Amino acid sequence: GNTEGIVIAIDGPSGSGKSSTSRGVAKARDLRYLDTGAMYRALTWWMLDQGVDVADAAAVAAVVDRPELTMGTDPGAPSVAVDGRDVAAEIRGKDVTGNVSAVSAVPEARERLVRTQREIIAAARAESEGIVVEGRDITTVVAPDAPVKLFLTASAEARASRRSKEVRTSDVAGTQADLARRDALDSSRKDSPLTQTADATELDTTGLDLDQVIALVVGLADEARAAV
Ligand code: DC
Repeated sequence: GNTEGIVIAIDGPSGSGKSSTSRGVAKARDLRYLDTGAMYRALTWWMLDQGVDVADAAAVAAVVDRPELTMGTDPGAPSVAVDGRDVAAEIRGKDVTGNVSAVSAVPEARERLVRTQREIIAAARAESEGIVVEGRDITTVVAPDAPVKLFLTASAEARASRRSKEVRTSDVAGTQADLARRDALDSSRKDSPLTQTADATELDTTGLDLDQVIALVVGLADEARAAV
């Protein structure tokens, strides 16, 4: 039709349920899906593969435009490729997870990825019913005008327990410590830190199961579309 697709912007810390919720909502309403964390991870994977010292912000900044990132936005089968290589498995590894906060603190890396994210969002709005975008700065920087803006939270214990299941470890305490470390870095960086703003709806998922959270967000999306 002539109307542009909707944007649903979802931010929150690791383990808050962003990814499962976002994919579930996109599937339920035939929307596209973009995992921006996967983009920071893919850029980090490429830096490590190239031997770039990610602790050196100037070295990172100098090469941010080199890799080509291709994001597949089907919520049933999201994909991520760097220079044509599928890196979906690699970006979930320890090396990338341990270094992604350093890369995502570099302003030039953020500028490059925010630009790419806005292009993907514009294409999805033109070609489909819309897109669910998840990350840390979607409600504040990438898509502040989105009609649905959510900030997902959950207790530290719930988040660590979910993440441990995802990565199949029994070390829940270690996972909780890792999450706390990454959250502290992501929330304290100078450029676009993870921040909860008043105009985003907070959704605490601690006592809820995934289907309940998805139903709540689908309800908000339907209301927003009805208001157009
Ligand atoms: O959601 P995730 O754990 O896959 O994200 C990986 C890292 O990327 C996270 O530590 C912070 C960073 N990130 C970011 O800075 N901005 C985003 N929009 C998404 C992720």
